[in-house]
Amino acid sequence: MNKQAVVLSTSLEETLREVVSQYVFDKLFILTDTHTAALCLPRISMLPALSGYTEISIAAGDVHKTLDTLATVWQKLSDGGATRHSLLINLGGGMVTDLGGFAAATFKRGMQYINIPTTLLAMVDASVGGKTGINFNGLKNEVGVFAPANTVILYAGFLESLDRENFFSGYAEMLKHGLISNNEHFNELLSFDADAINYTALGKLVAHSVRIKEEVVNQDPFERGIRKALNLGHTVGHAFESLALAENRAVLHGYAVAWGLVCELYLSCVKTGFPKEKLRTVVQFVKESYGLFYIECDQYEQLYTFMQHDKKNRAGVVNFTLLKDVGNIVIDQTADKQQIFEMFDFYRECMGI
Ligand code: GLY
Repeated sequence: MNKQAVVLSTSLEETLREVVSQYVFDKLFILTDTHTAALCLPRISMLPALSGYTEISIAAGDVHKTLDTLATVWQKLSDGGATRHSLLINLGGGMVTDLGGFAAATFKRGMQYINIPTTLLAMVDASVGGKTGINFNGLKNEVGVFAPANTVILYAGFLESLDRENFFSGYAEMLKHGLISNNEHFNELLSFDADAINYTALGKLVAHSVRIKEEVVNQDPFERGIRKALNLGHTVGHAFESLALAENRAVLHGYAVAWGLVCELYLSCVKTGFPKEKLRTVVQFVKESYGLFYIECDQYEQLYTFMQHDKKNRAGVVNFTLLKDVGNIVIDQTADKQQIFEMFDFYRECMGI
């Protein structure tokens, strides 16, 4: 897999001028969703470097990360005369970078693309590392390919307009990166003042977080081994998201990951000796910052079924990434149904459900 260039930008206009001038392309397309079309595209649409581009806009929200939306993007690329030598810029959150990346990777068997993530979640996770795809059959990111953007532009200025929910959604992935890296970074994240955000400090934390992800991805781009570390919190998190989707009570991805971290750190305590006081710290942080996701005992079976579809599994045995301690990762762990149900009991109890 090609290594992607991650560019930290303090002036989006300047960075785009420099980055786009390095590409040779016949046609330029910019993919937005309804939010970024209104709020972000106007910032760059007049740039000479982007002159003559064709805009493709899709409906915002994870519920639209579908085969139908993907087909409309392929159709618009086709109508606009896109070739294998065209360039697509994905301007948006994780839904846009995931779906746009998949469209770019598959149209005419692949064209060049640039990600400009506009949310914290997309900056620290979705836009970096080459995972692209769509939801399918009620399952998150069920169909997709590994195809890294040629360039990812991280423009810190977008962080300043984040609302609280989108800040914490992205922050959950940063916490995960803290948990898989070291105590110093983890503690730095826990003590960051989210009520009075210092955007310069946040920009530095974002850069650090992306470096952690890049280091892992560079070692194992196709997730055969250590990249599974990045799935910490996601085996359960994705099941919560799928349940939420099925019940029409959609939750932000990072929130599901935060609740998933509580569950999987509990399993880590039980199975691999993760320190209890650190679990307590995470539970406290998650309760205060993310509230709770309500589940009943009679939904455990359904959650378990969702977990059996996790992409890391083999032969239906649920695969977890666990920790022995902060920075001490153990991949390819399993838990049986009873342990998984006990994990949900713990989650409900600690969340006060
Ligand atoms: N979001 C986890 C990964 O990129 O591997």
